[in-house]
Amino acid sequence: MRSKFLLGAIVLTTALIMIAGCERKVVVESKESAELGSCFTCHGDEGLLLQAQGEWKNSIHASGNNIDYTNRGGGSDCTKCHDHQGFLEYLATGSVSAPYSSVSAIHCFTCHAPHERGNLTLRTVAPVALKNGDIFDHGNANFCVNCHQARQSVEQIVDSLVLTTNRWGPHHSQQGDMLNGSNCFEIDGYDYDKTSHHANLIDDACAGCHMGASQAHDGYKIGGHSFNMLYVSEETGDISNLASGVCGQAGCHPGATNYDIDSAQTHVHEWIEELHTLLVDAGVLNASTGLPNVPRGGTLLIPDRNVAGALWNYLQVEGDRSFGVHNFAYIRDLLQSSIDYLESLQGSPVGKPRALTAPIASH
Ligand code: HEC
Ligand code: HEC
Ligand code: HEC
Ligand code: HEC
Ligand code: HEC
Repeated sequence: MRSKFLLGAIVLTTALIMIAGCERKVVVESKESAELGSCFTCHGDEGLLLQAQGEWKNSIHASGNNIDYTNRGGGSDCTKCHDHQGFLEYLATGSVSAPYSSVSAIHCFTCHAPHERGNLTLRTVAPVALKNGDIFDHGNANFCVNCHQARQSVEQIVDSLVLTTNRWGPHHSQQGDMLNGSNCFEIDGYDYDKTSHHANLIDDACAGCHMGASQAHDGYKIGGHSFNMLYVSEETGDISNLASGVCGQAGCHPGATNYDIDSAQTHVHEWIEELHTLLVDAGVLNASTGLPNVPRGGTLLIPDRNVAGALWNYLQVEGDRSFGVHNFAYIRDLLQSSIDYLESLQGSPVGKPRALTAPIASH
C-alpha cells in the first residue's frame, strides 16, 4: 500500500517539477545509484529509510525548538548550527549569509545528500578544527562536531577580564571540546589527564554511543537517529541506551544498569555544585541565572585570569551535560583544580589536585 502511495507521490512530484521547471528536480548522479536503478531501494515498505524516519521523529534535532530566532543577519552565525539552510551554506562556502527567506529544522538532507549521491553517506567526515585550533578527528563524529563545539577559544576569552555581557562563555554546544580534552582552562601548577578513553575506544565516538543499536528498542525512542542516550518519560520511566552494548563492549562496564558508573556522575554533580558556590561567593557567577554575573547595562570585573578560567571551566562542564561521561578524567581535573584555586583565594593554601573522594575504577 505504502509503496503504491509513494509511487503516486513520486510521479506527481516529478510531473509538477517538469511543469514548473523548478530546481527541486530529483537528480541521481552517481553510477552506483544509477545501477540501483530503483528509487525503492530507499523508498518503500522494505526500504532503508523507515527505521531512521521513525527514530528521527524522537530527535531533538527534529523538534526545531531553537530555530525560530536564529535566522539573524548582521554577521550572526546562529543559523550555521541551528538550521538546515545555514549549515549547508556553511559547508559549501565556510560562511553564512543569513537572514534566509525561511529556515527549517535539521533533517535527512542536512546530513545526507541521497539524491545527488545516490547513497546515504554523510556530507562530510573531514576532521574539524575546534576554536582553540585543536583538531577533532574521530570518524563519523567529525560530522557532529561541526556544530557540537564551543563558539569561542578559552585563550582569547580569558585575556579580557572586563565583561560587558553575560553571553561570555562557550555556548551550550561544547561536547566536541570535552570529548577531545580541548579548549578548557588549565591552571599553572596542576596536572590534567587528557586521555580520552571514550573518544579513542568507541568507533565514531558521538555516533558510536548516541546512535548505538536502535533496533534493540521499541518505539524508536533511543539510539539510532533519535540520537538520545536517555529518553525521559513518566509513562515508561527513563529508558537508557545500555542495551545497545556500547557501555559493556570489550568488557569495559559489564553489568552497568545506568550511566552513573562507579558513581562518577554523582561525583561530577557534587563538584559542579561546589564550584558553583565558590564562583557565586567570588561574585562572578549569578546564582539565579547560572550565567556570568554581569549587571544589566554594567560591567563585571574578574579578579584574575585563573578565576576567569574557573568560570569558563564551570560553564564548559555544566553545559556539556554528560556529567563526566564524555571525558571523566579531564572533567574531574578541571573541576578539582578550579575549586582548589578558588579556595586558595579564601585563605586555603594552593595545593595539587585533591585525591578523589572515592576511587573510580580505571577504564
Ligand atoms: C539513497 C537513498 C535514496 C534514493 C535512491 C532515492 N531517495 Fe528520495 N529520498 C531519500 C531520503 C533520505 C529522503 C528524505 C525522506 C524524509 O524526509 O523522511 C527522500 C525524499 C524524497 C522525496 C520527498 C521530497 C523531498 O525532496 O523531500 C521524493 C519526492 C523523493 N525522495 C523521490 C525520489 C525519487 C523519484 C527517487 C529515484 C529517482 C529517489 N527519491 C531515490 C533517499 C533516497
Ligand atoms: C557552533 C554551532 C552553534 C552556533 C554558531 C550557535 N549554536 Fe546555539 N546551540 C548549538 C548546539 C549544538 C546546541 C545544543 C546543544 C545541547 O543540546 O547540548 C545549541 C543550543 C542553543 C540553545 C538552547 C539552550 C538550551 O539550554 O536549551 C539556544 C537558546 C541557542 N543555542 C541559541 C543560539 C543563538 C541565539 C546563536 C547565535 C547567536 C547560536 N545558538 C549559535 C550550536 C550552536
Ligand atoms: C544529524 C545528522 C543526521 C540526520 C539528520 C540524519 N542522519 Fe542518517 N545517518 C547519520 C549518521 C551519522 C549515520 C551513520 C551512523 C553511524 O555512524 O553509526 C547515518 C546513517 C543513516 C543510514 C544508514 C546508512 C547505511 O547504508 O548504513 C540511513 C538509512 C539513514 N542514515 C537515513 C536517514 C534518514 C531517512 C534521515 C531523515 C529521517 C536521516 N538519516 C537523518 C546522520 C544523520
Ligand atoms: C547542523 C548542526 C548539527 C549537527 C551536524 C548535529 N547536531 Fe546535534 N544538535 C544541534 C542543535 C542546534 C541541537 C539543539 C536543537 C534544539 O534544541 O532545537 C542539537 C541537539 C542534539 C542532541 C539533543 C540534546 C538534548 O537537548 O537532549 C543530541 C543528543 C545531539 N544533538 C547529538 C548529535 C550527534 C550525535 C550528532 C552527529 C551524528 C549531531 N548531534 C549532529 C546541531 C547539530
Ligand atoms: C561514551 C559514549 C558517549 C560518547 C562517545 C558521546 N556521548 Fe554524549 N552522552 C553520553 C551519555 C551517557 C550522556 C548522558 C546521559 C545522561 O546521564 O543524561 C550524554 C549526554 C550528551 C548530551 C546531553 C543531552 C543528552 O542527550 O543527555 C549531548 C548533547 C551529547 N551527549 C552529545 C554528544 C556529542 C555531540 C558527542 C561527540 C562529540 C557525544 N555526545 C559523545 C554518551 C556519549
